[in-house]
Amino acid sequence: MGAAAYAAKPRKPEVSARRMRAARSGHAIGPSYSLAPRGLRRPSGGATRCGVNYRHAFHAGNACDVAKHALLVALLQALTAKQKPFRVLDTHAGIGTYVLSSSEAERTGEWRAGIGLVADVTEGPLADYTAQVRAAGFPDLYPGSPELIRALLRPQDQLTLCELHPEDHATLRARYRGDRQVAVHGRDAWEALEALTPFPERRGLVLIDPPFEQPGEFERCAAALARLRHRFRAGIVAVWYPIKHRAPPRAFHTALQDAQVPDCIAAELLLREPTDPTRLNGCGLLVANAPFGFAEQAQAILGALVPLLARGEAGAGALVTRITPE
Ligand SMILES: C[S@@+](CC[C@H](N)C(=O)[O-])C[C@H]1O[C@@H](n2cnc3c(N)ncnc32)[C@H](O)[C@@H]1O
Repeated sequence: MGAAAYAAKPRKPEVSARRMRAARSGHAIGPSYSLAPRGLRRPSGGATRCGVNYRHAFHAGNACDVAKHALLVALLQALTAKQKPFRVLDTHAGIGTYVLSSSEAERTGEWRAGIGLVADVTEGPLADYTAQVRAAGFPDLYPGSPELIRALLRPQDQLTLCELHPEDHATLRARYRGDRQVAVHGRDAWEALEALTPFPERRGLVLIDPPFEQPGEFERCAAALARLRHRFRAGIVAVWYPIKHRAPPRAFHTALQDAQVPDCIAAELLLREPTDPTRLNGCGLLVANAPFGFAEQAQAILGALVPLLARGEAGAGALVTRITPE
């Protein structure tokens, strides 16, 4: 597994308090704020040759991963309701499964405030997701999006994964080697979106889950979503985004409205009032062409997460809103 690539003990991290807050928060706070403590970065100290610093191994299973994955499972279940084959394109795949005792996961401990508080749930709107997490090996392992998707594919369905980071790509490739239903690409997500859609199956889901470590990531998501909706109207598209403060997600929604991207809803979880922009205060999943009944299901899923993950913090809540009309 990818975590094994970091089995050697890293140098003591030389990180500032701000960097550490950003790392704990789950997503970078700017291009120079890598989530990986310096000891785990490439010798250049800057971006890797592929331009990606972010490593999901530090954050797998955190509160926002839980929200994203619980909603992802609901979207996939809707696709399996019909016999017709479907495909899923996971454009920012990570390594597929995460070892929770790895040095990365231990370093941040984020999973303990995420899946660690949720995995025991066996009833209600979270039950299908948590059952999948336990079946995937929790508490030793946490399944990333590729693993959650793979578990729900039927023999007629296909999964395409893109991961740009060379080591993470190699880990992912090794994981699914020989699996005839899974294709793993080391290509750029934004290029792949153009090249690999629409799907030959003409139905399915595109999951876009960037690390938000580059400036302009919200704008890039809005532009990609607009193009994708135009070229693949039948597909479901889900874009994960961080909520640190309110302005960037609002601007994202406005950009979708201005571009008249049809049929978008936003399912948002707030862990606390989003006033400190250096913290990951919540997250959203923008879903275009959501399956029938998904908005209500998403509200129930996120509503069930609030008391478990936010633990009475002021400003916490769950909200599903329509952003653009059908
Ligand atoms: C938030 S993580 C993905 C987590 C994964 N989707 C999950 O839910 O388990 C983002 C991933 O995207 C990768 N990445 C960053 N930029 C990319 C790009 N332009 N194309 C493909 N992958 C990229 C990073 O290396 C990282 O593994």
